[in-house]
Amino acid sequence: MQGVARNQWYVIALSSEITSTPIARTVAGEQIVCYRVPGDRVVALRDRCPHRRYPLSLGRLNGEVLTCGYHGFCFQTDGRCIVVPGQERIPAHADVAVYELEEQGLWTWVWIGDSAAGDRRPPATPWLTSPDSWSVVTGMAPIECRTSLLVDNLLDLSHETYLHGGSIGTPEVAATPTMTTIDRERNVIAVSRHMDAVECPEFYARTTGLTSPIDRWQDIEFFAPSFYLLHVRIAPAGVTPERSGEDPQAFHMKILYGLTPSTTGTTYDFWAVCRDFAIGDQEVDKFLDTMQREVVQQDVDALNIVESRIANDPDPFEVVLGIDRGALAARRMIQELAGGLADREGAFWEDPAGVR
Ligand code: FES
Ligand SMILES: [Fe+2]
Repeated sequence: MQGVARNQWYVIALSSEITSTPIARTVAGEQIVCYRVPGDRVVALRDRCPHRRYPLSLGRLNGEVLTCGYHGFCFQTDGRCIVVPGQERIPAHADVAVYELEEQGLWTWVWIGDSAAGDRRPPATPWLTSPDSWSVVTGMAPIECRTSLLVDNLLDLSHETYLHGGSIGTPEVAATPTMTTIDRERNVIAVSRHMDAVECPEFYARTTGLTSPIDRWQDIEFFAPSFYLLHVRIAPAGVTPERSGEDPQAFHMKILYGLTPSTTGTTYDFWAVCRDFAIGDQEVDKFLDTMQREVVQQDVDALNIVESRIANDPDPFEVVLGIDRGALAARRMIQELAGGLADREGAFWEDPAGVR
């Protein structure tokens, strides 16, 4: 699919979605079926029966064998066709392609591309595998928009003030300047906003018990092309981390997003809210889950609208601000990874917001 980086890991599903009932996902334009076999192993095959192209995701799993729901071809977990009803001989080219999956706690990633290429591990997500230290709520929202719009949205959190007022947005978010750094070796973009002695929004007040004023830090790391990590620190105003790095009076959250391009105009928005306090508290889980779903839905609604506007608007003009540096750099990095830009040099990287 054009504009999508290959030889990359993308989140394909919440691990809880992958069961003995096959599910269909389209990632980077590739149709994939995922399922879980005995021994707790996750499997992904091309979601296309080689016989008459019927989706294998509409088939049935018996143990490790997936049977096509149309004429009954049977496939092993390595994609090999082992049964063709009514004949002994298995035709050539009856096998299906296998995708590499990596289950990392609550999220499962798929490798899209060449099996021999690239970094062979998905981004580290230790918060999703350590229930004793981190409690997590997680979900996924499909969006009818190109993935670059979600990148823009997540890298510029000034929108919290307007789109998410009442939950996570307060006036200070939009009013506080950010610091952006671009690491072109690792393909990581960092955007930081530290707010001192500000209002405590409900999302944090209800879960931490803190009252205003608080110090509220948002430190974003975007690992192009598909993983976003927001380090949140909430503390009573004036309290700083100790010199040792310990930070016992503060509350920490890791807000994760897996940005998975599905088709040219659709995206999977995987999210997880991880916290190092109120561990195992189901009331807090419920509150955060409800509130985060509302926040995500507000983003989804906005991005659906922007996408439909773009589709009907031939004018490419957009105003660019200093606050857009991170998002512009992220777009550019993804374009490069997708092979769409030949030249890595130039003024753009010195000042992405200043270059037209
Ligand atoms: S389409 Fe799958 S067996 Fe015929
Ligand atoms: Fe948002």
